[in-house]
Amino acid sequence: MTLVLGIESSCDETAAALVDGERRIVAQRIASQDAEHAPFGGVVPEIAARAHAERLAPMIEGVLADANVALGDLDAIAATAGPGLIGGVMVGLVSAKALAMASDVPLIAVNHLEGHALSPRLADASLDFPYALLLVSGGHCQILRVDGVGQYRRLATTIDDALGEAFDKTAKILGLGFPGGPAVERVAKEGDAKAVPLPRPMVGSGEPHFSFAGLKSAVLRAHECGRYRSEDIAASFQQAAIDCVTDRLRIALVQMQDCKTLVVAGGVAANASVRAALEGVAEAHAMRFTAPPPKLCTDNAAMIAWAGIERLALPGFTPDPLDISARPRWPLDPTAEPVRGAGVKA
Ligand code: KG4
Ligand code: ZN
Repeated sequence: MTLVLGIESSCDETAAALVDGERRIVAQRIASQDAEHAPFGGVVPEIAARAHAERLAPMIEGVLADANVALGDLDAIAATAGPGLIGGVMVGLVSAKALAMASDVPLIAVNHLEGHALSPRLADASLDFPYALLLVSGGHCQILRVDGVGQYRRLATTIDDALGEAFDKTAKILGLGFPGGPAVERVAKEGDAKAVPLPRPMVGSGEPHFSFAGLKSAVLRAHECGRYRSEDIAASFQQAAIDCVTDRLRIALVQMQDCKTLVVAGGVAANASVRAALEGVAEAHAMRFTAPPPKLCTDNAAMIAWAGIERLALPGFTPDPLDISARPRWPLDPTAEPVRGAGVKA
């Protein structure tokens, strides 16, 4: 039975997990750094890197002990090698290299976005390629066609903020604390989504790209005018964001009519209202809908181990060299055209 150790350290979660070829998460540990970053209202890269360096080694020892497994029993060690905050990525990747070298186990350098993109297949064994993927996290907001492991075509991306970033900024404006997404979701439950008139940037545009900067500014204005309750602003923001996402998906899905399943992944996929809305989009397009359980949506090491298992199973698999570099940027589809950004003339 294939057994892979996954290591994740690209943002503010330090995580290690063991996953087997039968999609079982044999052991996993995760430490969030919310308490360290909360006073600053966002992730501080240097604090994150230091926290990863302190926590990762005992965490890896912990998951191996939990499963009663030795390093030599592993088929591979998979670690996030980018994209992300480079100090944290290097902590995880260097640890993986050292363990791989010491125990003579293959190293797999995983693209964090590929971890998210394949995570639905860890949760759902019946999910076959190709599928239409909405990848929504703190740093990314993309619509991709997934044709196989390592085969991604980006149909849409954001020209400014990512969706998770928009949730985080809304939480900050409303003083809901950090991390923002879950807080906005919680408070939105008490609010009226129609109470605050907010824009739906890009809705109606023929290209399926996203923009959330204008929505964030409108949230700030609504808050500053003092006329609205935070609950109503949160609910109205969440609804506006969902309207943007569903509209953009409808445009992108025209180009993916052979995809039978609509899939959502990344931290924002943990949001129940987002999931419900996407289920509606899938139904309207006669597609199946699948999303990983919320704990597999936010950053975790099981998805990194799973991406390693998927890579191991490819015909002609070769391990990554031990001198492979950590990458702050690493697009899933390197051939995708850069998108004209806000303020740039055509
Ligand atoms: O995938 P992830 O854990 O880390 C990145 O790779 O960025 O995503 C984190 C993002 C954050 O912006 C967080 O606020 C958002 O996902 N998020 C949510 C929820 N849970 C996490 N956004 C909306 N609703 C949630 N329940
Ligand atoms: Zn992530």
